[in-house]
Amino acid sequence: MRILLDKFTKSFGSLTIIDEMDLEIHDGEMIALLGGSGCGKSTTLFSICGIHKVNGGRILFGDRDVTNVTSQERNVGVVFQSFALYPHMTVEQNIGFPLKLRKETKPEIKRKVDEIAAMVHIEELLQRRPGELSGGQQQRVALARALIRRPDVLLLDEPLANLDATLRLEMRSEIRRIQQETGITAVLVTHDQVEAMSMCDRIAIMDKGQIVQITEPRDMYDNPVSDFVAGFLGSPPIAFVKGRISGGKFVEPSTATKIPLGAKIAKANDGREVKIGIRPEYFQPGSGTMISGKISFIESQGRETLYNVTLPDGTILRSIQSRRSPSKIGDEVEWGINADQILVFDQDGVRI
Ligand SMILES: Nc1ncnc2c1ncn2[C@@H]1O[C@H](COP(=O)(O)OP(=O)(O)O)[C@@H](O)[C@H]1O
Ligand SMILES: [Mg+2]
Repeated sequence: MRILLDKFTKSFGSLTIIDEMDLEIHDGEMIALLGGSGCGKSTTLFSICGIHKVNGGRILFGDRDVTNVTSQERNVGVVFQSFALYPHMTVEQNIGFPLKLRKETKPEIKRKVDEIAAMVHIEELLQRRPGELSGGQQQRVALARALIRRPDVLLLDEPLANLDATLRLEMRSEIRRIQQETGITAVLVTHDQVEAMSMCDRIAIMDKGQIVQITEPRDMYDNPVSDFVAGFLGSPPIAFVKGRISGGKFVEPSTATKIPLGAKIAKANDGREVKIGIRPEYFQPGSGTMISGKISFIESQGRETLYNVTLPDGTILRSIQSRRSPSKIGDEVEWGINADQILVFDQDGVRI
């Protein structure tokens, strides 16, 4: 089911949280609303769900205008961070509850519960109560309950936030598998860029109630429209270095390092103050445009090691390396920047 937000506006009292947002979610697509806390992700999701009444604009499911349709009549399945299972009911009763409300017959409910339980792999848990389940199992039950009515749209608000790291990894691929098996259109609200990148067809990244960029994960990583987007995606994060474009090159002032730029960017912006973004995988020993600085931080991340290299003016570059270098904190190093992979931004953070 295609979802369309057309100049969707939402206020609380005199405070406008979302101002004329346009968003199209394609049929069968899973999209992430990604952004920091308070940027309006849940507000947008709750408005699609029908929990919030909108203050302006329209919401369409397919060609149907649902702007003033109640949540029950929108046929949406919702999963919240808190799971919100009924503690006194068994798993079977929890999952079947939406159908009981619809007054479906007992055998019919049983058949559908068994079917959905098999899909989310919880057949053996049906007689337990939520208190007897792990976080991941509760999450599967919440998913089953959201899906049992065969909703047109699946809405997920930070569904993995309460799970520990291992379970989060497992449920990431499970939710994606179930979404793909059912072909349901899904919206995932998350502040976690890894979740958004790994689970969704497209990401809509939000800042202060607005969508600042919407595209496929890899494209957003490679072609961010701004320093905000570039900084949001990638862990460890991209490093920014200020300098000036001169004679076809970016000049870093504290080391006088000159990094060659693409001819088009260099020519159009000669003499301009800019900042460049360098991702940790593109700052490595042995190749590229050499720049020297002092190692100020080392963090082993298991398979890889992160190094911070501080330039004379205090600017920090990050390098992620799979082979542990013999360098220690305080060592002076000269490592290379891959000039082909740097991103150039103007002083306001807009990508050039
Ligand atoms: N029911 C509400 N009443 C008043 N303000 C709200 C309400 N819900 C959310 N807000 C405000 O709207 C903004 C966006 O909130 P929310 O959509 O929950 O952010 P997110 O989910 O991105 O963290 C925040 O400033 C929040 O305080
Ligand atoms: Mg939220």
